[in-house]
Amino acid sequence: MKLNLGCGDVAPPGWINVDNAVGARLRKLPVLGALSHRFLRCDWSPSILLHDLRRELPWPSGSVGCVYSSHSLEHLTRASGEGFMREVARILKPGGIARFVVPDLKLEVDRYVSGESDARDFLSSLHAVDTRDRPIAKRIYGLLSGSGHRCMYDEASLFGLMAAAGLSARRMAPFESAIPGIAEVERAPQTADALIAEGVKG
Ligand SMILES: C[S@@+](CC[C@H](N)C(=O)[O-])C[C@H]1O[C@@H](n2cnc3c(N)ncnc32)[C@H](O)[C@@H]1O
Repeated sequence: MKLNLGCGDVAPPGWINVDNAVGARLRKLPVLGALSHRFLRCDWSPSILLHDLRRELPWPSGSVGCVYSSHSLEHLTRASGEGFMREVARILKPGGIARFVVPDLKLEVDRYVSGESDARDFLSSLHAVDTRDRPIAKRIYGLLSGSGHRCMYDEASLFGLMAAAGLSARRMAPFESAIPGIAEVERAPQTADALIAEGVKG
């Protein structure tokens, strides 16, 4: 079994794709779902399993082979992230693999300190503050697709979070993975400049 947790609009067949965005919930409704799909260009698949990742994951302990989670962990507070990581480790089989893709905090800070990015771009890269006025359609889309960042990670803090849950972590390159079919869920724009860690349950 392969899980894609915090899938957004990346919901390939062969994976159980999980999210709890308002847009994903709307998509389940016959009329509102069709309207949001057509007029707001909400691309959530109606097949998405609705679940809040801050809650206990709905799979038995030791039952899952692979977990993929791209640009979702940073949307949870540090405390919720710890709980989520423990849950991921709980449901994995021994030898099961969990792969996390998150924005690289150190990379963004280095770019700012070196002058490669200015203050506005740096703040924008954190997704923690609103730096631009956005047209109404984009604001509605933002409301439907979820919140900004509640935490950010560098390699040490992400590896530490994984290790505390019992996952031995290794840094990986985009599309380099022990997960079969990784190209089905991984996307080049999401992995460029990202921090990618893969952990194995001991
Ligand atoms: C930036 S999107 C990433 C989507 C996709 N994985 C990708 O890499 O393009 C973050 C996703 O995490 C989901 N998310 C955030 N907090 C969540 C939570 N507590 N439970 C379930 N999904 C959550 C959001 O709804 C959103 O779809």
